Amino acid sequence: MSLNKDLIKKLVKVTSRAAINCYRYIGKENKRLADKAATDSMRNDLNDMEISGEVVIGEGELDEAPMLYIGEKLGKGNGPNLDIAVDPLEGTNFVAKNLPGAISVLAVSEKGNLFNAPETYMNKFAVSKDVPFDATDIDFPLKKNISNIADAKNKNFNELTVCILDRPRHTNIIDELKTLGVNLKLISDGDICGALMVSDNKYNIDLFLGIGGGPEGVISAAALDAYGCKFQGRFIFETESDKDRAKKMGINDYKKKYEISEIVKGDSIFCATGITKTEITAAVKKENTKFITETLVTHKESTIEIVKSEEAIA
Ligand code: FBP
Repeated sequence: MSLNKDLIKKLVKVTSRAAINCYRYIGKENKRLADKAATDSMRNDLNDMEISGEVVIGEGELDEAPMLYIGEKLGKGNGPNLDIAVDPLEGTNFVAKNLPGAISVLAVSEKGNLFNAPETYMNKFAVSKDVPFDATDIDFPLKKNISNIADAKNKNFNELTVCILDRPRHTNIIDELKTLGVNLKLISDGDICGALMVSDNKYNIDLFLGIGGGPEGVISAAALDAYGCKFQGRFIFETESDKDRAKKMGINDYKKKYEISEIVKGDSIFCATGITKTEITAAVKKENTKFITETLVTHKESTIEIVKSEEAIA
């Protein structure tokens, strides 16, 4: 029982403080400094914890020598063995430009239970739990998926909304959705929040799909697993160097479709603190002598909740 309430409390503090440390860079048009502030904060706080953690999804790989690289050991080394996936600042553009959508996020599992992924793109597909598992698939034609979601939700096509990153690589999908009469939610960045919006009907997103970062895909899967939603992903290994990196991480089938149960095994904790406002969480708020934050916490075995935290201004 290493993934317990006490650990959740400490992890909420980690993303919350990373978000607070990013606060001063909101609207400063400096993605690099904002990312560094969040990353340094997350790294220091994780290193202060009584855990034996290892980064499986990080800010880069060792040869790029960044902070929080894949394989980096975290914690005092005297606690539970954990896999840690981090994205200290998801939505660097949002912070730089002072736009909604930035979060500080991590996911944690027991050792060996989170997918170890290189930093490549991933084709992703997420659907809410009120659609039967077999009714949709990343490999079905788009129209079949839309039609089956419409049937399951008892909605017309023009009552469905699909969330997708607004990128030229998605032109064909977007055009087909328009032809089908489906509504679009085109996001400029931040596809962890995009994927998470299938988790609850209040966000009015029936399907999330498209190509985005692989690390973001694995982190989204941890939360969607707690919600009981469907998630599938297929990494995109285009270059020989992508394939080599994948091979080193034990991936031999470069075209494999991963189900959520292969990406996140067993129990997991996910924490995402709003930096700027998101559809799910409030922005960091500065009030007199303290900062106030909101964090979405999912723990597969115990809870899904928004936790409010306060931190004195240093
Ligand atoms: P950053 O926070 O690193 O800027 O990433 C934001 C993001 O939009 C992710 O949410 C998404 O998965 C990825 O970038 C998409 O990548 P690209 O901008 O190359 O299409």
